[in-house]
Amino acid sequence: MDLNKRPENMARITTVELANAFIDEQVKLIREQVKDKKVLLALSGGVDSSVVAALLIKAIGKQLVCVHVNHGLMRKGESEQVIKVFKDGLDANLVYIDATERYLEKLKGVEDPETKRKIIGAEFIRIFEEEARKLEGIEFLAQGTIYPDIIESDGVKAHHNVGGLPEDLQFELVEPVRLLYKDEVRVVGYALGLPKAMVDRQPFPGPGLGVRCLGAIERNRLEALRESDAILREEFDKANLTDKVWQFFTVVPDFRSTGVRDGKRVFDWPVIIRAVNTVDAMTATVPEIDWAVLKKIADRILAEVKGVCRVLYDLSPKAPATIEWE
Ligand code: XMP
Repeated sequence: MDLNKRPENMARITTVELANAFIDEQVKLIREQVKDKKVLLALSGGVDSSVVAALLIKAIGKQLVCVHVNHGLMRKGESEQVIKVFKDGLDANLVYIDATERYLEKLKGVEDPETKRKIIGAEFIRIFEEEARKLEGIEFLAQGTIYPDIIESDGVKAHHNVGGLPEDLQFELVEPVRLLYKDEVRVVGYALGLPKAMVDRQPFPGPGLGVRCLGAIERNRLEALRESDAILREEFDKANLTDKVWQFFTVVPDFRSTGVRDGKRVFDWPVIIRAVNTVDAMTATVPEIDWAVLKKIADRILAEVKGVCRVLYDLSPKAPATIEWE
């Protein structure tokens, strides 16, 4: 039997009851596979790795070691949420690494988007490797691989892939949600008691805010990006748009424009609001957001975010524009 092929008669997990049955079965299988050994997991806070973490904690408790690397390119409050949910809430064995300085140093002056992506990915493997070497007795590596990853690629997508680890750090894999589709992973997440904000989290690129702080990343501009993104999310939530718009975020380009504040001329950044609806991210449309909502967001960003004097709404569908700006 091919363990990476979803059986044709496997029922789609659409209810909490079905999710509970899946959880019970996986808890049993994980215990059988892992026995009393330790398992390592890179916990990004995304849906897939969070569900795998919660499932493994249920099955083997402290035998799971979660490593959360904050690359400094997370959205506002995201790393804090990982700590709150897993360490405080589920008493997880969680290693938290604030690697912000390390990443910003590596990314200093780097303008090319693909080079930025490579640096962010490579640095993650390096940090994960360092942590794995510090820990003793790890025999397994858990990953949030889901079924579309198996169908669409060679098994794991970039942000799950810690396959770049050196030869002497190869572990046996534990991939409990590898046969599930995304919507099923979310139902399992709910059944495991994870918060809605985590389970229904919109897609967030592995390189995080790094590809939304256009060009060479600067600290102040990254902060303007993080703060404006938080305001956008807050106001979309208040306007009940969070569940209606597929992905939304802000972008801060690496140029300034003129403005006037307190009677004086300023030279500040623009903030671009990007919101899209899509089924598979291959094409996307731009939702018609109520003017009053856009105005409120613009007013708040201009009043609350330092160094910003202009707010724009991106009207471009995919194609020809991509969803991300770089
Ligand atoms: P584009 O910009 O190509 O984005 O229209 C399509 C979807 O993919 C996400 N995206 C990424 N996800 N690493 C990721 O894990 C990346 O480097 C990356 N670039 C884009 C994007 O957010 C959108 O959902």
